Amino acid sequence: MPQLTWLVTGCSSGLGQTFIHGILSRGDKAIATARGDISRIAALEESGAKIYSLDVRASAADIKKTMSRIISENGEIDVLINNAGYIEAAIAEEASIDSYLDQFDINFFGVIKVTQAILPHFRERKSGSIVFLGSSGGISREPGAGPYCATKHALEEWYECLKQETAHLNIKPMIFELGFFRTNIMHPDNVKFRTKYEIADYDDIRNLVSQFVQGMNQNQPGDPKKAVEIVLDVVKGEGIAEGKAVPERLPLGADCLTTMRKEAVANLAMCNEWDGVILSTNVDFGVTVTISSV
Ligand SMILES: NC(=O)c1ccc[n+]([C@@H]2O[C@H](COP(=O)([O-])OP(=O)(O)OC[C@H]3O[C@@H](n4cnc5c(N)ncnc54)[C@H](OP(=O)(O)O)[C@@H]3O)[C@@H](O)[C@H]2O)c1
Repeated sequence: MPQLTWLVTGCSSGLGQTFIHGILSRGDKAIATARGDISRIAALEESGAKIYSLDVRASAADIKKTMSRIISENGEIDVLINNAGYIEAAIAEEASIDSYLDQFDINFFGVIKVTQAILPHFRERKSGSIVFLGSSGGISREPGAGPYCATKHALEEWYECLKQETAHLNIKPMIFELGFFRTNIMHPDNVKFRTKYEIADYDDIRNLVSQFVQGMNQNQPGDPKKAVEIVLDVVKGEGIAEGKAVPERLPLGADCLTTMRKEAVANLAMCNEWDGVILSTNVDFGVTVTISSV
């Protein structure tokens, strides 16, 4: 496999940092980005990565400018890993609109802006891989995490469209659905609980969610290094992925596999039970329907 150049967002901690170490240890080139003061990721530079400041909340124009600079200073990029993200946890009715907007700004629009900024480069080369990090929350829609789950679900749908639109250009988007992995994502400083006000009807659920997040912090079953190695293998088509067709969506972690299976079984059961009703909605043969307003 030839040496690849990877660009990763959100490298100040967790999976981002782990990706950079994994990429470098395979002899590939790594471009690590993080928001704010770049000295935060100086250690990654010492390990051999190129480092840049990139806040995925910046304007599309600014992100394009940063991307052009990165490309002109590093030559061709082969893989983008859209890693930056965080969790807004709140009861759906209680969550402030700002918490929804901020969550989408980073986890969804941030990803779109960075991806759009690199696509002209990938189209010109007729080659490139784009990694998206989905979540079991985007499949199972956990109570108390409405804003987060909504962004990850939205990302999945957007990814599916992009994949079909770019297939003829030899651009390969891929999404990995992660269960709970032991990073700082659930640290009290990172999970945002922003409610406009608390509604007594939700006290029990809110308390359970808060206890769950605190209990899960640093007790997640997933090992980030193992997830990263699988992602790198799949993108490069080596190791565990050698000679295998890459699935559309790959769950990582036993918890995510359980979630995905449960969801598939529930969907199939619903289709089987309701198919008579679902199939009853076509226009009756010989009847003309005019739609005068929508
Ligand atoms: N760990 C899991 O269990 C899990 C499960 C499913 C999906 N994921 C996804 O995996 C990705 C990485 O999460 P993680 O577990 O590694 O969590 P993490 O340790 O909290 O890392 C998140 C990274 O995103 C960065 N970030 C946040 N907002 C940013 C912005 N506006 N611009 C640039 N970078 C920004 C953070 O930087 P700062 O230091 O500046 O905040 C941090 O480096 C996220 O997309 C997350 O949703 C994780």
